[in-house]
Amino acid sequence: MKYIDNKLIIEKINVQYIAKKYGTPTYCYSHARLKKNINNFQKNFRSFSPLICFAVKSNTNVNLIREIKKFGLGADVVSKGELMMALKAGVSPKKIVFSGVGKTSEEINFAVEKKILLINAESESEIREIDRVAKIKKRKVKIGIRLNPNTDAKTLSQISTGKKDNKFGVNEKTFFKLVNFCKSSKNIDLKCLSVHIGSQILDYKPYEKMLKVIDRIIHKINHKFEFIDLGGGMGISYKYEDKKLNYSKYSEIIKKFLKKHKSKIIFEPGRSIIGDTGILISKIIYIKKNDSKNFIILDAAMNDLMRPALYGAHHKILPSIKSKKKSNKTYEFVGPICESTDKFNTLKNFQELEEKDLIVICDVGAYGMSLSSNYNVRLKPSEILIKGSKIKIIRKKQKYKDLM
Ligand code: LLP
Repeated sequence: MKYIDNKLIIEKINVQYIAKKYGTPTYCYSHARLKKNINNFQKNFRSFSPLICFAVKSNTNVNLIREIKKFGLGADVVSKGELMMALKAGVSPKKIVFSGVGKTSEEINFAVEKKILLINAESESEIREIDRVAKIKKRKVKIGIRLNPNTDAKTLSQISTGKKDNKFGVNEKTFFKLVNFCKSSKNIDLKCLSVHIGSQILDYKPYEKMLKVIDRIIHKINHKFEFIDLGGGMGISYKYEDKKLNYSKYSEIIKKFLKKHKSKIIFEPGRSIIGDTGILISKIIYIKKNDSKNFIILDAAMNDLMRPALYGAHHKILPSIKSKKKSNKTYEFVGPICESTDKFNTLKNFQELEEKDLIVICDVGAYGMSLSSNYNVRLKPSEILIKGSKIKIIRKKQKYKDLM
């Protein structure tokens, strides 16, 4: 994405053109950036060829999952719906892992029928349910056990998952007990130890701690894990000043780990693959002034992009046409929804804006559309994919008749 003659361009397409042709708000993704992210991810960990399972929850658009699959990635899913979506996109079941703390019996049955690579179980009750289903279906089901390594990911508390107070995974003591249960079961094949300590992680040190815990635990167990699933969580730069995750350090500590434990590594990245590929194009409906600031009322709202309201997350905002006229006002970019948290950002020193101008909210490819809702009976926006000078509609805007 860059400005050419002060106009914002994605690959070879002008943002103004997209808005005119497809309306606003619209999610718009860049295929070139997606390709670059996947190539970089693969390159960073090439020396041990991990299985990379895209975390479908970050973006559930079947067309995007299909594009991601073409680069050889598998899928990490957390519900029957996500599993169906991954299969519909053509992802091989042999490259699908199923995570989540509350898989229902129906979901376990479906996963077993589809012969996916792994069900990563998160509790004793779940393993017993898998055992029961496997016995009925006369199948030996491949599973992982998700360990809670009690590691602080040093990220937002709302997206931290690897501390002992979090609901995810099992503690060390339960882990040992469950390994023994699996070994005694004829219906379960324990293949994997899995972890996922949180999301938007920008420091490699929590990963280092997590690997130390795994190392210590494996030493105490007489069991060979074919796979070690390290989850996802690699962060991206939402702010200009955000530091970048040191992938080469992360790769080094994994290599060190693999010298002692000969397992295949699985990753479950979402945000690092898709996060910065997407923007949300929105039009200013009205500008309303009060004593201290100007409210820039957009046609996009928290139902389209929930992250700022839910986590206080920061997303850069850019004008679609750059001008030199700086404003001395404070702009608060808000949506039309009846909630005070329906705001995207408060910015000073932005350029002068007028009603009907277009703006772009950046880095919304992950947990943007996938977290959207119909709150206030607002229609979910369309999604388009740009590839060079080609535009493909990958989801049509919802219609009122879909909701009535
Ligand atoms: N694996 C598991 C088991 C997960 O729970 C998650 C994310 C991932 C992989 C992918 O993590 P990533 O690489 O995308 O960080 N809605 C929040 C993020 C929630 C993440 C939930 N789990 C947000 O908008 O920041």
